[in-house]
Amino acid sequence: MLKKIMLVIATVVLLMGVGGAGRSDQGRIPWKDPSPIASTEAEQKILDVLADMYLNQRRGMMNVQPEDGRVLRLLTEAVGAKHVVEIGTSNGYSGIWFCLALRTTGGKLTTHEFDARRASLARENFKRAGVSHIVTLVEGDAHKTVTRLKEPIDILFLDADKAGYIDYLNKLLPLVRPGGLILAHNTTNVRRGMEDYIKAVTTNPALETKFIHKHDQGIGVTLKKR
Ligand SMILES: C[S@@+](CC[C@H](N)C(=O)[O-])C[C@H]1O[C@@H](n2cnc3c(N)ncnc32)[C@H](O)[C@@H]1O
Repeated sequence: MLKKIMLVIATVVLLMGVGGAGRSDQGRIPWKDPSPIASTEAEQKILDVLADMYLNQRRGMMNVQPEDGRVLRLLTEAVGAKHVVEIGTSNGYSGIWFCLALRTTGGKLTTHEFDARRASLARENFKRAGVSHIVTLVEGDAHKTVTRLKEPIDILFLDADKAGYIDYLNKLLPLVRPGGLILAHNTTNVRRGMEDYIKAVTTNPALETKFIHKHDQGIGVTLKKR
């Protein structure tokens, strides 16, 4: 399983390195990441909602880039995640990418947001994507509300206050199952206050971390070793 996960991560890194760049260096064949192809109507409906959100709602929502959303989906499905915990819902954009995978794995998403307006928008978006039944949206300051979590976590996604990543990690690492992942957004241009988190995930021998950096956001992928 460990090997399988590392293979998936290596493939993602490779794809992000050469795909979509449209470069025509000598000896390289230029190509672009293909768009996701829906295999069912329900999947197409979710992809349409995501496309609409990206086109019409993203202003002020601080959403992940679609290519990062696709990585979140891919990793979630690859580890067969049953429980994803997200810190920083915003309007639900990254949450819906997770749900694309969780529909298949039979899992659920618990997502945290303290801004009432964004939380309300997220509820609407989860509803129109048809995924509300697998989402629990917890409103309030996540530094406090995460202490109510008791169930094992397969994927922890950090995308709220950057200086708070270390606190979320300290509080939730015990719940992440061995073989589970901690994904941290915005690790390309490390923001003030994230240094403690970066140090924690790169110096703990119980963890294995690889940063996927293609554009100005990036994802830190950390495996909790078995
Ligand atoms: C970068 S946005 C999340 C984007 C979202 N993951 C996406 O890609 O669609 C960060 C969100 O975290 C929320 N947030 C920041 N600090 C928080 C806290 N302490 N508790 C709960 N939510 C918080 C903000 O209100 C904001 O909506």
